[in-house]
Amino acid sequence: MGGAGDQMRLLLIGAPGAGKGTQAERLAERFGITHISSGDLLRQHVRDQTSLGQTVKSYVDKGDLVPDGVVMDMLRKPVVAAAETGGYVLDGFPRTVEQAEASYAVVRALGVEVQAAIHLDVPRQELVRRLMARGRGSDDTEAVIEHRLQVYQERTVPLLEYYAGREWMFTVDGAQSADAVHEDIVARIRRLTAFTASP
Ligand code: AP5
Ligand code: MG
Repeated sequence: MGGAGDQMRLLLIGAPGAGKGTQAERLAERFGITHISSGDLLRQHVRDQTSLGQTVKSYVDKGDLVPDGVVMDMLRKPVVAAAETGGYVLDGFPRTVEQAEASYAVVRALGVEVQAAIHLDVPRQELVRRLMARGRGSDDTEAVIEHRLQVYQERTVPLLEYYAGREWMFTVDGAQSADAVHEDIVARIRRLTAFTASP
């Protein structure tokens, strides 16, 4: 299975704690594609104290979105490199309508646009439970989790509305076990015409 050039290019959208990283890792392994997490890359820059890391630290710590230009510049190379090999699963980007529009122009020109967008739907109280249990550094405190959820409502939910009705966008019940979520995603991907159309 695979799309044009036997590639797979996926996008995961979900609230903080929805399981984007968990599912992206599994999809990457299953389909031999590269997992690209904007949050993981940003946190790595902060740990390495790069100049980008110094620029973004206060945004990440507070749960605010990092400016679009910074994220776009950081992701351009890894996304293009992944598209040249097996494909990618993007986790955490795009997360606003503005980012989707700006990145579409770039990937469209290269012929490496996303083939499926997967929305992981999880009730709010389960999100909070997962994040409090995980306790990832500075942004998994109660106050910052609250703010991240609010930013998700204000900035990312409009992206879901923007994508709504596209045949390559679908929602999965992310409150199930990680295995069940994974199998649901795979089943839905297999039904998409991008992956079933004969060459
Ligand atoms: P980012 O790293 O993207 O964080 P997030 O969106 O808040 O999401 P998380 O990584 O916390 O959760 P996840 O959905 O990956 O879930 P996970 O699999 O870990 O962004 C962090 C920050 O970076 C942002 O606040 C912003 O500052 C900046 N940033 C990133 N991208 C940006 C962008 N595009 N533009 C601007 N700024 C950006 O799971 C969570 C927990 O639940 C884990 O413990 C896991 O084991 C558990 N779990 C997962 N699945 C299940 C399941 N099915 N059942 C039970 N437990 C589960
Ligand atoms: Mg994550």
